[in-house]
Amino acid sequence: MKGVKILSTGYYLPEKILTNADLEKMVDTSDEWITTRTGIKERHIAADGEAVSDMAEKAASQAVERAGISKNDIGLIITATFTPDYPLPSASCLIGEKMGIKNVQMFDISAACTGFIYALSVAQSMIKAGISKTALVIAAEKLTAYTDWADRGSCILFSDGAGAVVLSESDEDSFLGFDFGADGSFRKLLYVPAGGSLNPPTAETVKNRQHFIKMEGNKTFKVAVSRMNSTAKKALDKAGVSAEDIELLIPHQANIRIIEALARALKFSMEKVFVNIDKVGNCSAATIPVALAQADQAGRLKRGDLMELVAFGGGFTWGAAVIRY
Ligand SMILES: CC(C)(COP(=O)(O)OP(=O)(O)OC[C@H]1O[C@@H](n2cnc3c(N)ncnc32)[C@H](O)[C@@H]1OP(=O)(O)O)[C@@H](O)C(=O)NCCC(=O)NCCS
Repeated sequence: MKGVKILSTGYYLPEKILTNADLEKMVDTSDEWITTRTGIKERHIAADGEAVSDMAEKAASQAVERAGISKNDIGLIITATFTPDYPLPSASCLIGEKMGIKNVQMFDISAACTGFIYALSVAQSMIKAGISKTALVIAAEKLTAYTDWADRGSCILFSDGAGAVVLSESDEDSFLGFDFGADGSFRKLLYVPAGGSLNPPTAETVKNRQHFIKMEGNKTFKVAVSRMNSTAKKALDKAGVSAEDIELLIPHQANIRIIEALARALKFSMEKVFVNIDKVGNCSAATIPVALAQADQAGRLKRGDLMELVAFGGGFTWGAAVIRY
């Protein structure tokens, strides 16, 4: 069977930075509370008129350039996002158009913060099945379009950004083990109540602030820690490796306390855990590919290193991947 390799990484974060001091002027909070409860000091915020496809195109173009291939070699575009520019068409079609790519499969995946790992598993399966030779796997989110700036329990977490990788068929296989899960009975702990087909937009839904993300943070926190721990362990087992073999753990950046609890449970020293939450915040599906690209471009990840990605998000969804870079 053919293998699949990650050829390159790319990322983009918007220029505008929102600090905890800025948030202190917007809601009843403090830099001290946000820092100790979440680990976040500042986050990047998209400009007005800057959409998911704009951020994604920048991350994807950087990945294609770093891969040293032509955009014409891309045979598949998959974007993980729940904040596409429009409900119709997909963000992937808009990204393809912005990059000058046509006549290949382009579609989106919706799995909230776990979306990038879901998308990776689908793209590498499609390459192994012979459907495409090369894929662009992107995750991009404009969470601030769905952020209730009057809700101090959630607005302090969210940010915008995009990350991407280029995958290609190869004699070696980078993807050693995946594990996934989902449980829709948790749907109301983290969701956007209106704007979909159940509750289409009306003056009433807007007035009731139902187009913003609603989150029961404390309950979400507890399930996140337990599911990230179990899925990370299962992916290690499936790959036939142990935590000591992993050079870099890249967890979803939702809360530094979740990341530290995960590292303790998995017996990873924090030196082996990539953390950028202090400067990037939580940009949902985009957090992992942004972190991956930053680790790669800063030299923290070298060819041949074993890494593990692990995420948790709305749905609830969760998943992990063990990858030889
Ligand atoms: C959101 C989150 C930071 C809140 O932290 P927490 O320790 O759980 O805090 P709680 O919600 O229990 O609230 C504790 C107190 O802080 C207050 N509080 C909440 N947000 C606050 C803020 N920004 N500033 C100051 N106080 C705040 C609450 O009102 C509450 O006050 P009370 O005790 O007087 O009622 C945390 O729950 C979290 O990160 N959850 C998981 C997020 C996540 O993983 N999302 C899914 C993946 S994207």
